[in-house]
Amino acid sequence: MIDINNISFKYSDSNFQVFEDLSMYIPDSKPTAVLGPSGCGKSTLLRCITGFLKIDKGEIKINGIDSYIINKNKKIGFAFQETALLDWKNVEENIFLPETIGKQVMTAEEHVSQMHFLLELIGLKKFKKYYPSQLSGGMKQRVNLARSLFTKPELLLLDEPFAALDLLTRTKLAINLREMIDKLTTPTILVTHSIEEAVIFADRIIILSNAPATVREIISKDFRVDNQKALESPLYLSTVAKCRQLLLED
Ligand SMILES: Nc1ncnc2c1ncn2[C@@H]1O[C@H](COP(=O)(O)OP(=O)(O)O)[C@@H](O)[C@H]1O
Ligand SMILES: [Mg+2]
Repeated sequence: MIDINNISFKYSDSNFQVFEDLSMYIPDSKPTAVLGPSGCGKSTLLRCITGFLKIDKGEIKINGIDSYIINKNKKIGFAFQETALLDWKNVEENIFLPETIGKQVMTAEEHVSQMHFLLELIGLKKFKKYYPSQLSGGMKQRVNLARSLFTKPELLLLDEPFAALDLLTRTKLAINLREMIDKLTTPTILVTHSIEEAVIFADRIIILSNAPATVREIISKDFRVDNQKALESPLYLSTVAKCRQLLLED
């Protein structure tokens, strides 16, 4: 469970106030999307949760513990917009990367079993010796996801993971991502400006306003979007329309 309590954050170089007394409570039971317009502070929020950025006020707790402490122990997995794979490392080496940085948090046996599990999860077992230049955009994103899961995080943060991909691939991957997350117990938060991705992936959608961001509405949905056909269902389309309306409000 994540408890964001009255946080404020300002970029000191630009004097831009991104958050002012923002509060948000996210129980871990359901995949969650944070949806908001570009520039509203989604990426900043994830960086505040990891502790890469230090909030000026308030607190962010994960299961009652300050989130930056959880991150220090490699228990937050993240795939950020700009986290690219290393071109000179193959799929396996890229997935293993988090354990090569800082202190190791797993045993050698755990390394082997986790690698096996993740390659199976992302369906790239046959490609484990391939280099990023030999993979499609969608495959690279799946490797990126596996990497963020390597140290068995207590929380997974995904920042616009499909931003660089074409629309059709994005839709497929969002469906695929949900399937993969359902095989894990890791609470996951996806931030995106894409309404479709949010509705496909999440059961709970937190809609933010422009900066300084406030929670405009929390939408719960209880239907699944598990194939392309479901993108034509009235329930899906009306949820997308509802989110769009809330996003456009000002
Ligand atoms: N390093 C930075 N220094 C100063 N301002 C920044 C920095 N990064 C982002 N901002 C500003 O903070 C606001 C929120 O940015 P960001 O969190 O990246 O938004 P989002 O991810 O929702 O598109 C934007 O107005 C952006 O220009
Ligand atoms: Mg962003």
